[in-house]
Amino acid sequence: MERRRTVWGKLVAVLVVLSVCASMASGGCRSQETKEKNSIRVGVSLYRGDDTFINNIRSELENQAKEYEKETGIKVKLDILDAKGNQNTQNNQVERFLSLGCDVVCINPVDRMVASGMIDKAMAAGIPVVFFNRQPVEEDMNRWDQLYYVGADAKESAVLEGQILVDLYRENPGALDVNGDGVVSYVMLEGESSHQDSLIRTEWSIQTLKDGGVPIEKITGGIANWERSQASAIVEQWLKDYQDTIELIISNNDDMALGAIDAIERAGVVQKINLVGIDATTPGLDAVQSGKMLGTVSSDKEKYAWAIMQIAAAKALGREIPEEIPLESGKYYWCGQQIIQKKQ
Ligand code: BGC
Repeated sequence: MERRRTVWGKLVAVLVVLSVCASMASGGCRSQETKEKNSIRVGVSLYRGDDTFINNIRSELENQAKEYEKETGIKVKLDILDAKGNQNTQNNQVERFLSLGCDVVCINPVDRMVASGMIDKAMAAGIPVVFFNRQPVEEDMNRWDQLYYVGADAKESAVLEGQILVDLYRENPGALDVNGDGVVSYVMLEGESSHQDSLIRTEWSIQTLKDGGVPIEKITGGIANWERSQASAIVEQWLKDYQDTIELIISNNDDMALGAIDAIERAGVVQKINLVGIDATTPGLDAVQSGKMLGTVSSDKEKYAWAIMQIAAAKALGREIPEEIPLESGKYYWCGQQIIQKKQ
């Protein structure tokens, strides 16, 4: 009896070992494999690591990866690379992520118009992609059902930015029409011309002022490509060209508004110039809090990064995207935004 049990025991053990080997040799059944995954590999390529807003998103992504690990016990290997504004570099980074066996790739495209090359590679490897902040064209996004986009709606940002000014004007017209001549004379600082946010933010901030009944007059505008130093140089010149006439600076983002503040401080301008931005970056929030900037618009960066991480992890694990992440057309997640003004 004892001997028979040992023989049966051995036989069962041999069968188990054989079936495990057979499944390993065949590469294993994918659903079986994903079910058992206890770590995922996520490759992230940033268009520019020195962009303040992107830097804030990067830190949040790192936090969210840790949070995800804590909550699920699944290890997240997060590889973040900086493409330094070069599309070729980014193409190589994405190729490398794919060949290294990343489960999902998150891309903040350098040139959002040519995302198709990276999409081709991801499709060939069967690896899902989560784009963020720089939106590929719709035609490209529609090429595959494993492409996602996380961003903040540009029109919403601009309407909220304009609303800061409309509210102030309604409360006290003199706070915006500083020289009391009946019109608010403004200059506009714009982001990269190829970025979906620039045109829309420029158009809708102004439209909101018009709709809100603020009498405005444009003095001039310029493209400072989201950059503090470029904005600073442009505004330095404007302060010379349009001495004492600028009452308001509307900026497509906080960094350019900060560049304008740098120029104003350098020039020692004494008359009041109001400034508004978008992003609520860390230095942007400081400028609001110290009263240098009237207000900004925050796209909740924690939620932004959370959405990227949740979509990426679900895809990496072969799971459904959680219901708390409503996707427009099955692929776009729009992060909520709000006005930020000085805490009293
Ligand atoms: C942000 C900018 C940032 C740009 C980068 C925009 O949505 O507002 O601050 O430089 O994205 O793509």
